[in-house]
Amino acid sequence: MKIKMAARSKFFWDNFVHLVMEAPRGLDFSRNEYPYPDDHERIWYERTTGEHLKVLFSYFEDKNKRVLDIGCGKGYALYRIHKMGFEHVDGIEYDTRMAGIAQRNMEILKLADQVTIYNMDATEFTGYDNYVVIYMFHPFKGRIMEAVVCDVEESLMRQPRPFTVVYFHPREHAVWDSSPMFYKSLEWTLAFSNVELDVYYYEFDPDYKRKERIPPFKKILESAMK
Ligand SMILES: C[S@@+](CC[C@H](N)C(=O)[O-])C[C@H]1O[C@@H](n2cnc3c(N)ncnc32)[C@H](O)[C@@H]1O
Repeated sequence: MKIKMAARSKFFWDNFVHLVMEAPRGLDFSRNEYPYPDDHERIWYERTTGEHLKVLFSYFEDKNKRVLDIGCGKGYALYRIHKMGFEHVDGIEYDTRMAGIAQRNMEILKLADQVTIYNMDATEFTGYDNYVVIYMFHPFKGRIMEAVVCDVEESLMRQPRPFTVVYFHPREHAVWDSSPMFYKSLEWTLAFSNVELDVYYYEFDPDYKRKERIPPFKKILESAMK
């Protein structure tokens, strides 16, 4: 009930912001978009608010990092993250109309030379090697997430490097929890306008190979008793 009320008030606020602050400049960030059926693996567009992004990215002291927003929608998070001082920010968006809106928003904000929008499914993306941070605001469900985790793992096998996953509203966190290459470094609950949403941060574990090679203690006992 509380969540429904807060979602409704965010919906009206976002539409008001669009009408008063964005539309006169030709911008379109705030309005939700629902391009997929309810039961789809892909989730609709709803922006992360600026207040949330400020807190989410306060995790990083060093802003000289290449950030990728997977499921960037109309690009609001890209704009805000860039404004916070992260100069290398790009996004992937599946929906062609929204990717076009994101591109137009970047042009109006004179960021088009700096921010690239890839209009494709995240599972088709082959450029993970170029990034050290990925941001996701619950963009899709399990099977797509599994494919993305595999691609990120392969990228880290090719090019081991410090790598952070910022996963806001982490409905599919089990997929990241079960990756041997990542550990959860931080878990926060963010409360704004009466709604609480979690964020999980995962870091690449450069020792993951050693972890895999040492069999669990229980296994050693079993084989010793045979
Ligand atoms: C909840 S919105 C998040 C928008 C933006 N990241 C933000 O925080 O403001 C999720 C977005 O993910 C996109 N999306 C869903 N499935 C996708 C996929 N397989 N590949 C790329 N984008 C996808 C949706 O179209 C939607 O725009």
